[in-house]
Amino acid sequence: MTRRPSPASIEAEEVRSGRTGPHYARVLIRLLCAHALAEKLTARGYERALVLVQDPELRPVLEKNAAEERRHATLLYGALAELGMSESAADRSLVALLKAPSFEAPRHFAERSCDELDLAMASLSLDMTGMIMIGVNYRDSSYAPHARAAQAILDEEAEHGMFAMERVAAAVECGGRERVNAALREWLPRAVNFFGPPGTGFTYDCLRFGLKAKDNGELGELYLAMVGRRLQQLGLTMPKLTAEYPHAAL
Ligand SMILES: [Fe+2]
Ligand SMILES: [Fe+2]
Repeated sequence: MTRRPSPASIEAEEVRSGRTGPHYARVLIRLLCAHALAEKLTARGYERALVLVQDPELRPVLEKNAAEERRHATLLYGALAELGMSESAADRSLVALLKAPSFEAPRHFAERSCDELDLAMASLSLDMTGMIMIGVNYRDSSYAPHARAAQAILDEEAEHGMFAMERVAAAVECGGRERVNAALREWLPRAVNFFGPPGTGFTYDCLRFGLKAKDNGELGELYLAMVGRRLQQLGLTMPKLTAEYPHAAL
């Protein structure tokens, strides 16, 4: 592949037949696996919240979000199946990545989140980041099935993003700013790390194959600018983060 393929220009058959070359297929599959698992863990997080969150008024929206995240995961695993990869093989291929800082946010939501403040922070860290990854990167993927899946997911992720901000505002109202500021110090580094390390060889390949439009570092900055503005409107303090990946609160 000598020049960057244009958005939605490659179908599954071209990858299966080997016309895109093995390198494109490898990079694409790894990216789809990571996206699929992130959606699945987010679905699990919402399912966990359904069990643990006390407020009965939240049930309908938690059920809706859990179902939508499951549907997102199903779309991505379906795209992988078209390329001959099963869900279990996809998840097995990411065993090492799952332990990386970039997966700490979805893992924490799926396995350890426990109350409404965690729910607000997880939604801020997963839905709003997801919205940026999907809207900026995957919607214009050269791989047409990924571009179509992104388009089908995007409106729901935007709604989840609004839900995140509502829950953060509710958390300020019932627990006070200091408690939310402390939670932000814990969660915002995870959220930014969720974009992955900047400037890697893998992302370079994604960019040159048209599978991503921007580097992880740029997306992280976009996220911090967007979230920062909204959190400041609620009178919250953005934690300062270390410059290097994996980011931590200073
Ligand atoms: Fe999603
Ligand atoms: Fe979402």
